[in-house]
Amino acid sequence: MVPVSDNASILPRLRLETQPYHEALEQNAFNQALSAGNVTPQATEFFLSKLYGFLKPYEAALDAYPFPAEWEVATRHRAHLIAQDLPAVADLPLCPDMPPLRTWPQLLGAMYVLEGSTLGGQVITRQLAKSGISTRTYFTGYAERTGSMWKQFCGLLTAAATHPDDQAEIVHSAVVTFQKLHAWIEQPY
Ligand code: HEM
Repeated sequence: MVPVSDNASILPRLRLETQPYHEALEQNAFNQALSAGNVTPQATEFFLSKLYGFLKPYEAALDAYPFPAEWEVATRHRAHLIAQDLPAVADLPLCPDMPPLRTWPQLLGAMYVLEGSTLGGQVITRQLAKSGISTRTYFTGYAERTGSMWKQFCGLLTAAATHPDDQAEIVHSAVVTFQKLHAWIEQPY
């Protein structure tokens, strides 16, 4: 028997099942200050330093896996953008409690979260401006390619998630990635 697969449903399912975690992240102190228009340069730098500490080990895990070329994994690296915003990134602590990033579904779930995070960049840049803070390179993300990079990622993910077991593992990994990222962002140094 051919296994039943419903690969078209992975994106709506990811969106729906991770929505509470996205909302929780938007309630984070930095994001609250962002929407209130009273964020400080120090808080912005703290947030960026935390993202750096998560992106570095995440990107190392992506690099350790033989992704087909069309995923453009090297192009999707963004930790080096933070290096343009912050001095001495090499001294920043890295997240010690990363989600498991060994299997293909684990990597795809994490990638959904971190690729999706490029979509908020324009909103964040506008909000930073309200607090008088100039654009940080990191939040410009893929700049004018942001929409097309996301669209391409969604297409590849949908095509890759053909098996229901893989879909469950991808969604689980996305949830765990949101949780670990959030815990790391909240934790003071
Ligand atoms: C590190 C923190 C964040 C992560 C990991 C994250 C992650 C994501 C993900 C995975 C998506 C894709 C949802 C989909 O499937 O379409 C998304 C979309 C989006 N996020 Fe975030 N996000 C973060 C912070 C923020 C913040 C602070 C804002 C607002 C200021 C924001 C605004 C948005 C917007 C506007 C979209 C696009 C919604 C759409 O076009 O349908 N995000 N984000």
